Amino acid sequence: MATATVHPNIALIKYWGKRDRDLNLPSTGSLSMTLSHFATKTSVVFGVDHDEVIINGEEALGRPAARVLKHLDLIQPGRAPAKVVSTNNFPTAAGLASSSSGFAALTLAALKALNIDHTPAQASILARQGSGSAARSIWGGFVEWRRGVKEDGTDSHGLHVAPPDHWNLNMVIAVVDKGQKSVGSTEGMLRTMATSPMYSAWVSSWQRDLDQARQGILDQDLTMVGRAMEASTLKMFATMFTSNPPIRYWRPASVAIQDEVAKLRQDGINCWWTMDAGPNVKVLCEPEDAPAVADALEHHVEDVHTLAVGGHPVVED
Ligand code: DP6
Repeated sequence: MATATVHPNIALIKYWGKRDRDLNLPSTGSLSMTLSHFATKTSVVFGVDHDEVIINGEEALGRPAARVLKHLDLIQPGRAPAKVVSTNNFPTAAGLASSSSGFAALTLAALKALNIDHTPAQASILARQGSGSAARSIWGGFVEWRRGVKEDGTDSHGLHVAPPDHWNLNMVIAVVDKGQKSVGSTEGMLRTMATSPMYSAWVSSWQRDLDQARQGILDQDLTMVGRAMEASTLKMFATMFTSNPPIRYWRPASVAIQDEVAKLRQDGINCWWTMDAGPNVKVLCEPEDAPAVADALEHHVEDVHTLAVGGHPVVED
């Protein structure tokens, strides 16, 4: 048996769209910050009587269980029956990146339980096939997921851009709704790719945002990162809004918080927002500004979390 504890990550430069569905290869490169405090803890044991998957204390059935078991088949074809127990200390499938930490933790725990030697890049390639954003949760700190060009996906994995202690940044998360999202990321991406006239503009314009965000991280330049992050976020949502039927995760409170962030900036607080496949808003700022940002967000929602840059996964026997 082995256990992995892994932090989720939030994309500063977004992944939205697949160049290969079977291998889960992205149409764009992306870049993330790993979060502190939020974590998925997953234990895997092989050689039990029958496959069993427990998520957050309840037996998982149907598609969630099938996804987990299929991932174990990928890691070791012809494997023995396994028991997987996974717990999140934050809301699951609610646009808070639980699939990123979930599939990274499952991958690392299974590799350890099976004693399979691997590099972090190899773990990232496996995690990517469970859920794309999981390719980035194999490291703490700041991580880039290369789009890659190879058809077999061997060049599409995470790369460590900067360690957790490189830059003391905060992400203040406003939980607008912690319920499960209406349209899952995979379904949303496939619909966008099939129907949005904006999709081609998205896949031809991400590189500059990513280069700027990476440079901004290396230089610890929050304005540079924030501008690139908001540009990437808005372009991603433009593809969703113009899908058929449209995908619109935003709620009135999400928009009010976007306005609040713009107002805070006018008042001299350097902060920038992003969102994912859900209504929650994540605001990037320096730690000294986080209390003022959190106060402002608390006017809109009850549930506000101030998180720092998270560390590397921990894997134990
Ligand atoms: C909006 O990684 O959940 O959060 O690969 O289909 O499982 P699949 O998608 P997933 O999508 C994440 C989308 C996003 C942006 C991001 O994290 O880069």
